[in-house]
Amino acid sequence: MLSREDNELLAHVGPGTTMGDVFRQYWLPLLLASELPERDGPPLRVRALGEDLVAFRDSNGEVGLLAQNCPHRGASLFFGRNEECGLRCVYHGWKFDVHGDCVDMPNEPPESNFKDKVHQPAYPCRERNGLIWAYMGPLSDPPDLPALEWNLVPESQRYMSKRYEECNWAQALEGGIDSSHSSFLHSRLNVNEIQGEQRNGMLVKERDKHPRFEVVDTDYGVLVAARRTPDEANYYWRITQFLMPAYTMLPPYGQDPMSGHFWLPIDDQTTMAWTITWHPTRPLTEPELDNMRQGWGLHVGEDMLGMPDPRLPGSEWRPIATRENDYMIDRARQQKEVFSGLPWIAMQDQALQESMGHVYDRTNEHLGVADTGIIQVRRRWLQAAKSLRHQGVTPAGAMNPESYRVRAAAVILPRDAVWVEAAAEHLTARDGVHIPSA
Ligand code: FES
Ligand SMILES: [Fe+2]
Repeated sequence: MLSREDNELLAHVGPGTTMGDVFRQYWLPLLLASELPERDGPPLRVRALGEDLVAFRDSNGEVGLLAQNCPHRGASLFFGRNEECGLRCVYHGWKFDVHGDCVDMPNEPPESNFKDKVHQPAYPCRERNGLIWAYMGPLSDPPDLPALEWNLVPESQRYMSKRYEECNWAQALEGGIDSSHSSFLHSRLNVNEIQGEQRNGMLVKERDKHPRFEVVDTDYGVLVAARRTPDEANYYWRITQFLMPAYTMLPPYGQDPMSGHFWLPIDDQTTMAWTITWHPTRPLTEPELDNMRQGWGLHVGEDMLGMPDPRLPGSEWRPIATRENDYMIDRARQQKEVFSGLPWIAMQDQALQESMGHVYDRTNEHLGVADTGIIQVRRRWLQAAKSLRHQGVTPAGAMNPESYRVRAAAVILPRDAVWVEAAAEHLTARDGVHIPSA
């Protein structure tokens, strides 16, 4: 459990909050490049870290991210005209470039230099391999983007989806490092009907439902290893990374592609859960892509998205299974087929994470040894937040983008092996090298 103060500290991410300051030390995955497909195209409402923003792609193809309310009298720049390298407010015509500089103020006398004094808050954006990153922090010269393998491989080798989740970011993320839930929430009552590499992993997880956890602090965050017992001589280790401030990774099965998440706080009560699947050395196959587009595995399928609400930026990524329809639980399937009775893996996670409420009061928790990973990750967050606030210490990984070259892995090791050392090769992302998981 957490104290009330620490629970509050983790939940709040708006400007000036302690945890919000931590997020503002990092580049954050903000949008798919395809959401701003054309130069001078329609701007997009964006909400991130509790701030209402507007994103646009200017005439040069550069992405701008501005505070949404015009600095003149506060009208929304979402209605702006995106023209000739800037976004022009349609109320009185003030125009801003991607840096937030006011470049035209046509309702003031021509001799006035008022426009030179007006600046709209603007955050730098960078684009790499189909993803738009934003830096909402204090540095005028931020570090490089993190060297995450999924954002370095060619686009043919990775697939991304996102889902709009109606609960606090930390509550959502904790599902991504909680390996013990998969033996329950995602389990099947009919494992024998499943084919492929996944089946073996599922069988081990079925047989040993109470893995032992070990954690190791790293330069970028925490390594969480779950140990299960497949036979007399060996241990089966599933090793997961948590990377500051809010990335998680999942071990693949065998030669399968690998997956991970980024949990972007839209605000204290809403999260954009990104899911990324990639293969280090080969393009994803058509059947793999088809599966993901249909929502099998961790992704939200293209047909699983509901109706957007224009008052809720990002809600175009809200799935059709929601609180209001009990996430489409099917009690008959729960009897015979699927442990949870909930459709799709992504919805199983989302349903349970949201079911705790928007911000769960963690003073009510009862954490056991199965929650070791979560406990350690919370420690890292709290330590990072407090050291930044009180001593000005830059949090882990923020200035060390190269430390993000890691992969999750599953390995079978003799019982006396030290997993951190024995699995080191598996856990490193090296260009063109792929060591299959167990
Ligand atoms: S409110 Fe935007 S120009 Fe007046
Ligand atoms: Fe899950």
